[in-house]
Amino acid sequence: MSSSRAQSFIHTVLQNSANPAPLSIVKPNGHGQAPVNIALSKYWGKRDAELNLPINGSVSISLPGLGTTTQISVFEGNEDWISLNGKTLPAGDKFAKRLSAFLGWFRKSSTTAFKVDTTNSVPTAAGLASSASGYAALVFALDDLFGWQLSKSQLSLLARFGSGSASRSVYDGFAIWHKGDSDNGLDSFAEEINVTWPEFTIGLVKVDTQEKSIGSTLGMQQTVETCDLYQSWPQQAERDIHNIHQAILNKDFTTLGKTAEHNALSMHATMIATWPPIVYWQPESVAAMHVVWQLRENGVEVYFTMDAGPNLKLILLDTDKQAVLNAFKEINRPIEFIQPFKG
Ligand code: DP6
Repeated sequence: MSSSRAQSFIHTVLQNSANPAPLSIVKPNGHGQAPVNIALSKYWGKRDAELNLPINGSVSISLPGLGTTTQISVFEGNEDWISLNGKTLPAGDKFAKRLSAFLGWFRKSSTTAFKVDTTNSVPTAAGLASSASGYAALVFALDDLFGWQLSKSQLSLLARFGSGSASRSVYDGFAIWHKGDSDNGLDSFAEEINVTWPEFTIGLVKVDTQEKSIGSTLGMQQTVETCDLYQSWPQQAERDIHNIHQAILNKDFTTLGKTAEHNALSMHATMIATWPPIVYWQPESVAAMHVVWQLRENGVEVYFTMDAGPNLKLILLDTDKQAVLNAFKEINRPIEFIQPFKG
């Protein structure tokens, strides 16, 4: 953990803190809460692993009501105490180790330990982006505990440092994560896209909520290292984020849906062409894709996107909910609909 670049990144962000001693707590407990987000144009590949900087930008929609709630406090000790969904994690646990390494950047001294109590309302590591809401909620909780009062873009920078997709979970609604160009990582953060779209609907098709075989961090590293098809990805991704951003501003549902589905399938194509291959799909995932394509043939405008897991996230307008529900009933798949802009 002795990286001077990462140290200077954190130091520069915390220079904006309202608390002149940013690693001294201002209250006994910090609280944070953040939603999961679904990328409509995906992040896949890092240009800098140390600062967690992406090769390409991305665009997302946050899902209110699904996410993470975190409480944090400090105590004198040598080891953090981390609880996930009511269960205390053993020190060697993968999730706990990654969290502790992140928290290491915010310790006042070597005997500062953190007590973290975090609860997800989505299955952890099931491709429903719980690391995104997790790191965003954690950063909000740290901001509260240390009285930083940082802006959303500063908090997005810190969340990104924990997990890339977390940069977008700092916001409700649509967000765009700019990949940034600078080596210091200070221009790679997400911003809100200020559009309210009440009819916009996401449908969650759960195929499997077990922990995935390979996590995104390792998966994207292997793709960048071994996949020849990946050469064309950054260019497509930048074009897609531009088109999706415009489509959101114009409420052009067709362009948004087509571009998002094509983007997700292109990302998965690079995963499949990685060695060893990364195939998150299960037979039920492919069956669900066919239902979507059949619905479109029948004039129902629904699209899908998928992340590092077998579950589909449908993109539709609320008027088509019933038709979509009926079609998926035929393959015995229930759907959970979420309208991000409807309370
Ligand atoms: C497929 O944000 O989990 O969901 O930065 O290594 O923590 P790290 O990766 P992570 O990757 C998410 C990948 C994705 C696409 C996306 O959400 O944009």
